[in-house]
Amino acid sequence: MLIMSRWLSELAANVPEYSIMEIAKYASAYRAEDMVYLNIGEPDFDTPGYIREKAIEAIQSGKTHYTPDSGIVELREAIAKKLRLENNLNYSVDDITVVSGSQEGISVVTQALLNHGDEVILSDPYYPSYTQNIWLRGAKPVFVPLRAENGFQMMAEDVEKAVTDKTKAIVIVSPNNPTGGVQSLEQLKAIAEIAIKHDLVVISDEIYEYIVYDGQTHHSIGSLPGMLERTITQNGFSKSYAMTGWRIGYLATPRELTPKIQEIHRATVICPPSVSQYAALAAITGPQDSVRRMVDEFSRRREFIVKRLREIPHVNVAAPSGAFYAFPDFSDYTNDDKALAKNLIKHAHVVTVHGSGFGELGRGHLRISFAASLSKLEEGLNRIEDYLRKNWPEKFT
Ligand SMILES: Cc1ncc(COP(=O)(O)O)c(C=O)c1O
Repeated sequence: MLIMSRWLSELAANVPEYSIMEIAKYASAYRAEDMVYLNIGEPDFDTPGYIREKAIEAIQSGKTHYTPDSGIVELREAIAKKLRLENNLNYSVDDITVVSGSQEGISVVTQALLNHGDEVILSDPYYPSYTQNIWLRGAKPVFVPLRAENGFQMMAEDVEKAVTDKTKAIVIVSPNNPTGGVQSLEQLKAIAEIAIKHDLVVISDEIYEYIVYDGQTHHSIGSLPGMLERTITQNGFSKSYAMTGWRIGYLATPRELTPKIQEIHRATVICPPSVSQYAALAAITGPQDSVRRMVDEFSRRREFIVKRLREIPHVNVAAPSGAFYAFPDFSDYTNDDKALAKNLIKHAHVVTVHGSGFGELGRGHLRISFAASLSKLEEGLNRIEDYLRKNWPEKFT
């Protein structure tokens, strides 16, 4: 939607729309109790009890004030330890900044790095917050394709082709939203070489790191030789611990960037929410079996959704390697995926997100979240199939 106001900056007036919210807004006009929501980008589980209890304790003991702006030291130490032990990332505690969700991280990092006219290599499809924030800095995303035949990985050869003398950074989101792709170690190594060769900074968004399937392994590009000093690792508690509403995440940054990153973070939020920091500390230091249980449940749903989508004629779907989204291709039915998503809401009462809202290569696709119960998934997919059958009967003969 183009808003014309003489007060808005040119960049703000033209900021690309957030596809996920656009479709949620459209769906809100319809009766909620009828609707099956497969558009939601957050775990449908409650935050585990041991985390909530620690937060309550923090409130009761008066830990409700501003904290150090980069976060309480216990949490920063726990994050640095986790990164070292699990991700082989040796950031110093001083280079950890606790932020109000990874989304704040994206804003702070793009502010810290980008000049007008800089180019940022980003996948297509992409997580829309990146394009919005790159746009708001007057910089430009340069897209490289994620294709189903490569497991929706960002391929190093495409990255190399996208580099120009204006390139400042490469954004890697693995596991990926919206495609579910996971970068292999081989591709990460090849991209790391490109980053080093052209002196680029890498922003590695690892927020779905624990949610991988079929024995896949998540790798952190910052752990590769020569990469820690040029990698910003972004992570958060939202997806792994079902903590979306607590608004808590973290950045780990190369030493030369940390002071200004922390300055911008302070200017933006002063400090992350105090109670959420104690909850995050409990999450990261407590028992991890609730994470495993969630991932097991996502895994069962993933199996179901892929099998069920493959039963629908002319729908092509690659099994996601990570995260909790399937990204099926409906282009044999229509390329107007936005109309399809809206019609599914209006006529079939099932909410998905149009693929083109995540970039041009998403056209013809829908993002279907399986952060919904198996029974909801079953109902939603039955409705999608019925809608297709009614409108394209010839595809079902
Ligand atoms: C790839 C990616 N990065 C960042 C975020 C933002 O997460 P947070 O809740 O930590 O702000 C999301 C949320 O959907 C995401 O999918």
